[in-house]
This record gives sequence, structure tokens and C-alpha cells, in this order.
Amino acid sequence: MSEANQSDVFSIGGALPVHRLGFGAMRVTGRGVWGEPADREEALRTLRRLPELGVDFIDTADSYGPEVSERLIHEALHPYRRGLVVATKGGLTRGGPNQWSPRGQPEYLVQQAHKSRRIFGVETIDLWQLHRIDPRTPRGEQFDAIRALIADKVIRFAGLSEVSVEEIEAASKVFPVATVQNRYNLADRASESVLDYCEKKGIGFIPWYPLAAGELAGPGSLLDATARAHRATPGQIALAWLLKRSPVILPIPGTSKVAHLEENVAASAIRLSDAEFAALDKAGRAA
Ligand SMILES: NC(=O)c1ccc[n+]([C@@H]2O[C@H](COP(=O)([O-])OP(=O)(O)OC[C@H]3O[C@@H](n4cnc5c(N)ncnc54)[C@H](OP(=O)(O)O)[C@@H]3O)[C@@H](O)[C@H]2O)c1
Repeated sequence: MSEANQSDVFSIGGALPVHRLGFGAMRVTGRGVWGEPADREEALRTLRRLPELGVDFIDTADSYGPEVSERLIHEALHPYRRGLVVATKGGLTRGGPNQWSPRGQPEYLVQQAHKSRRIFGVETIDLWQLHRIDPRTPRGEQFDAIRALIADKVIRFAGLSEVSVEEIEAASKVFPVATVQNRYNLADRASESVLDYCEKKGIGFIPWYPLAAGELAGPGSLLDATARAHRATPGQIALAWLLKRSPVILPIPGTSKVAHLEENVAASAIRLSDAEFAALDKAGRAA
């Protein structure tokens, strides 16, 4: 395996070790996360580059495309290299570009997990995450469906997305919550308490939109200066900051381009000093 991915290892569910810097496969789709990507060959090259760079954790969802991202992952990487963990999500339906609606009826969740399994060409999905808790369906029914999927070995581990600590605790009474996927980055710290809870419980925390830094990344900013000091880009520093923030964080920067992937993976070699980390932390909290 290449040594490009220098992030350390987190064990999902205590049983699936992956390098913490993973890949988000939402961007290998068309505009508005709808349909085929503009450059299908480059998207396939990007996916095939992942194992070469030592990236062994991929996140996708049935709704990306829909199905487009899962199919491309299969086309690019099946049969999967030993140790490659492919995670997907279900529970959102699509009406068109940029349109997303939660759908949490248990039969639907089960049907979608079976479909993802078929598309991936695997017996058991490593990690399946409930994309959103559907407010129109009792959450207990959604959690029961997940427990059944684990019992039937359709999925091995399960996670949640965009949830509160209270929701993680409620779900944990029904099935072991292996991961939580909430929006979180240097400048968006709304899920700070959820991250702290996950760290305490050993739950993998997957921050989506990890590259965003908003105004923090402007010319002359602290992020900009830190990037220059490391001969890096602000996006790479944002990723290095996430990797240092907690040992349970698994950032999944997404791209459809090989060059961007290589740049993102190279961020795993950046070691921020404690002082740099603290200064960025303070600026991010104030943003
Ligand atoms: N659970 C949820 O509700 C949820 C929601 C959203 C996303 N996600 C997951 O999180 C992953 C990441 O989130 P995200 O895609 O929203 O945010 P992100 O990874 O922070 O940013 C992706 C954007 O940045 C660009 N980019 C990536 N690397 C770059 C680089 N080195 N230089 C310049 N531009 C670069 C990409 O475009 P190019 O293709 O041009 O590189 C894309 O537009 C997704 O792939 C998905 O798996 C989950």
C-alpha cells in the first residue's frame, strides 16, 4: 500500500480498521448530485486512485445520483481490495437536482439497503447509515429496521446522520451506533457536543463538508498564513485541523478529480503544532 495516506487508524465498530482520512463519493455525480458526472472517466480514475493512495474508507449514499455514485464505486473498485471499507446511506429520496426528502418507513429502508448491497456486489455492507431520521415515521420503527438489517447480515455496522446526542442515545438502545455523520468543519462547530459525545463513546464521527472554512480562508487570514507556513492550501490545513481535533474524526473530503484527491490525501502528512491548532480553533469558534 502507498504511504500517501499518513493518517492514523480508527476501528469502526471496534472491528473495521481504516485510515482516518477517507473519501466522500457524493461528488462523482452530476450537478446538484444528480445523474452522471460531467467527466465520467476522470471520476472513475479518481475512485481507482483511492487504494493506490492508501485511502481505505469511502462514504457514499443510495441517493447520490441516485445510485450513480454506488454504481461507479462498483465499476471502479470491485472486487474490493481486502480492508477497503465502503459505507453507504439510505433514507433520503430524490425528486431532482438538489432535492432531498427523508423517507423512513421501515420497508423502504430495508429495500434500499438490499439494493445498495446488490449494486456493490457484496454479501454484507460494511457500514450503512440512516441519512436522516424521518420526522413523519416513528423513529423507533426506523431503528428497529436497522437492527433487523444487522441481524440479517445485510449490513455489518450502522450509523446515523445529522443527529443530536439525545437521538444517538435513543438509537443506541436499539442497535450499536458505530458512526455519526454531521456537518462539521473548522468554521461550523454546531455539532461540537455531538463530537465530544462520540469521542467519549468511541463512535466514529464523520464530519461532512470538511473542506469548508468560509471567510476564515480569505487572503491574509490566520488559515491563509498557517497554510503558507506549511506550504499547503487552506483546504489542506482545514483537514489537518480536523485530524488533530479528535482521534474519532474521519474526514471524508469529496472530489471528482484526481489532482484534488491527491492534494487532499497529502493533508494527512501535515502536523499542526499545538499553538497553531489552538489559534485556528479559537478563530473557528469565533467565526
Ligand atoms: N450525511 C450528509 O447529510 C452529507 C451531506 C453532504 C455530504 N456528505 C458526505 O460528505 C462528503 C464531503 O462533503 P462535501 O462534498 O459536501 O464537502 P467537501 O468534501 O468539503 O467539499 C467538496 C467540494 O470541494 C471541491 N474540492 C475537493 N477537493 C478540492 C481541492 N483539493 N481543491 C479545490 N476544490 C476541491 C469539490 O469539487 P471538485 O470535484 O471540483 O474537486 C467539491 O465541490 C460527501 O462526498 C458525502 O460523502 C454527507
